[in-house]
Amino acid sequence: MSKIIIAIDGFSSTGKSTVAKQLAKHLGYIYVDSGAMYRAVTLFAMQNNFVDDSHFDIEGLVTALHNVSIRFKFNESLDFSEVYLNDKNVEKEIRTLEVSNFVSQVSTIPEVRYQLVKQQQLMGKYKGIVMDGRDIGTVVFPDAELKIFMTASAETKAKRRYQELVERGDEVEYDEVLKNVQERDYIDSHREDSPLVKAKDAIEIDNSNMTIQEQFDKILQLVNKTLVDL
Ligand code: DC
Repeated sequence: MSKIIIAIDGFSSTGKSTVAKQLAKHLGYIYVDSGAMYRAVTLFAMQNNFVDDSHFDIEGLVTALHNVSIRFKFNESLDFSEVYLNDKNVEKEIRTLEVSNFVSQVSTIPEVRYQLVKQQQLMGKYKGIVMDGRDIGTVVFPDAELKIFMTASAETKAKRRYQELVERGDEVEYDEVLKNVQERDYIDSHREDSPLVKAKDAIEIDNSNMTIQEQFDKILQLVNKTLVDL
């Protein structure tokens, strides 16, 4: 059967990665969490003092980008691909609220985007891929056979994110998480280079009142229709 590219874009914490992972598993496709790549570059920037609460050395970070290697390695026991930054597993570190607080700023840098988009396009060379992010249907794979754009209310997004962080054992305040989600969505959709926008041919799904199963079923229906129409 032909393989397709499925692009899933949308705001923070709209459940993109949950459904993308489910779909990839169901279809036997590769799953790529493009946000994890931006988070890994952000962690690198933090570790090397290019960014903190009081300064942001964009030039320094851009000059050091050639020292950044990001790879995904499949962890059989977790049934999940984990992110490695310069051969170190950083899966847990990149998900902290601290990284979330800087990642949107780092993602505005065109040189960072250029490098990551190039890698993402290579990953999709043979199709059979589900990638989630902010610019997958608009920039990374403008010719993707299926494009989904996910939305949810601000409170729904913040509640999901808060739950996720608490389950991981992070001590965070709900208001702090809500603020982060709102700020990231604002920066992500207002940046100059590849802002988060719905691709013209993307199908919008608001999942505020949908269960994970309902969301999966709906998108799988769209995948099957796309495959039939090929
Ligand atoms: O999907 P996520 O919340 O883990 O993504 C973290 C940040 O990375 C997000 O706020 C913006 C940035 N990002 C991006 O600019 N482009 C992408 N394709 C994916 C993520």
